[in-house]
Amino acid sequence: MPLLRVRDLSVTSGSLTLVNGVNLEVNAGERVGLIGESGSGKSLTALAIAGLLGEGLRASGEVSLDGEDLVAATERRRCEVRGSRIAMVFQEPMSALNPTRRIGDQVGETLRIHQGLSRRSAEKAAVDLLRRVEFADPERYVRMYPHELSGGQRQRVMIASAISCDPEVILADEPTTALDVTVQRRVLDLLDRLVDESGCALLLIAHDLAVVSEVCDRVVTMYGGRVVESGSVAQIIDDPHHPYTKALLATSKALSVAETSLGTSLPSIPGTVPNAGQFPRGCPFRDRCDRRVEACVEVPPTLVRDTRTLACWNPVVDDEPVLEEAP
Ligand SMILES: Nc1ncnc2c1ncn2[C@@H]1O[C@H](COP(=O)(O)OP(=O)(O)OP(=O)(O)O)[C@@H](O)[C@H]1O
Ligand code: SF4
Ligand SMILES: [Mg+2]
Repeated sequence: MPLLRVRDLSVTSGSLTLVNGVNLEVNAGERVGLIGESGSGKSLTALAIAGLLGEGLRASGEVSLDGEDLVAATERRRCEVRGSRIAMVFQEPMSALNPTRRIGDQVGETLRIHQGLSRRSAEKAAVDLLRRVEFADPERYVRMYPHELSGGQRQRVMIASAISCDPEVILADEPTTALDVTVQRRVLDLLDRLVDESGCALLLIAHDLAVVSEVCDRVVTMYGGRVVESGSVAQIIDDPHHPYTKALLATSKALSVAETSLGTSLPSIPGTVPNAGQFPRGCPFRDRCDRRVEACVEVPPTLVRDTRTLACWNPVVDDEPVLEEAP
C-alpha cells in the first residue's frame, strides 16, 4: 500500500466544487510532481491532504497515511499528524513565519508541540536543523528575526521547520517560485537530498516543468479541479497523451525560448482558465481543446494503461489505445 493514498478527494465551498474526485498516491522515498495552470486546484488538494483547509471549505473522500484515513479522523488527530507526520512548505515563507519571533524559537516550535521538548532543548535542536538545511553558522541565525534573512534563507528555515519532526510526507507548494534561479536550484537540491536521506514522500507543486522532470519520479496533471493525467516522468513529460498536458508542455517549452528572446510575447494555452464553478459541463478543458468530440460533453472516465491514468475521450496517441477503465 502507498504511504499517502488519496481517493476521490473533493473540496467544496458551499455549492461550488473546487477539487473534484482527485486520486493520487505517493510512496515512501518517491517524488511526485503536481502540475497545472493557475486555478487548477493544486494548492487546495495539498491543503486538504494536510488538513489545513480554511474556513468555509469542506473536504470529502479519503486521504490515507499509512492506511489511516485522515479525512474521517477527528480534528485533534489531524492536528497530531499535521506538522509531525505530514509537513507543508509554502511558496512565500514570510507569510508562514512570525516576524516578531526569532528563527530558533520558530524552528523549534513543532518539536515543543509534538515531542514535548523544553524551550532550551528545542533551540538546541533548531541549531542542528539549520545546519541540516545548510546554514554555515546556525548558532548566529537562530537568534535572528525573519526580516534579517534573504528569501532563500527564509525558505530553508521553512524547510528546517517542516523536517523537524522527521515527517513521512512533505507537501511543497511552489517552494522556489519566489526565488532567483541559483537559489531555486539550491533549495530544490536540498529537498531532493532530504528525501534521499529520510526516505520520506515528496509531493511537489511546481509551475516549472523542467524542475518537475528533473526532481520527480512521477507527475500528476490537474485541470478544473480534476486529475486529467498521471504517470511516470517519461510518460507525462516526454510523451503526454492528454491534450491538456500536451498543451501545457508546449507552452512551457515555448516559454523558456521566449524568456531568452527579448521582445517576444509570452506564450500560453489559447483561452483562459475559467473561475471555479464556470468550467464547461463534461470535460473541463472542452472549450479550449482542439481535439474535442461529441462525447466531451460528458465527463470522461479515468482509464489506465500500464502506469498511466488518463481522463479523455480523444487522447493523443500514435497507436490504437488499449485502455481499460480504472477500478
Ligand atoms: N478559500 C477559497 N474559497 C473559494 N474558492 C477558493 C478558495 N481557495 C481557492 N479557491 C478557488 O479554487 C480554485 C483552485 O484554487 P487553487 O489555489 O487550488 O489553485 P492552484 O492550482 O493552486 O493555482 P496557483 O497555481 O495559482 O497557485 C480557484 O478557482 C480558486 O479561485
Ligand atoms: S475529453 Fe475531449 S475536450 Fe477533454 S481533453 Fe479530451 S478530447 Fe479534449
Ligand atoms: Mg497554488
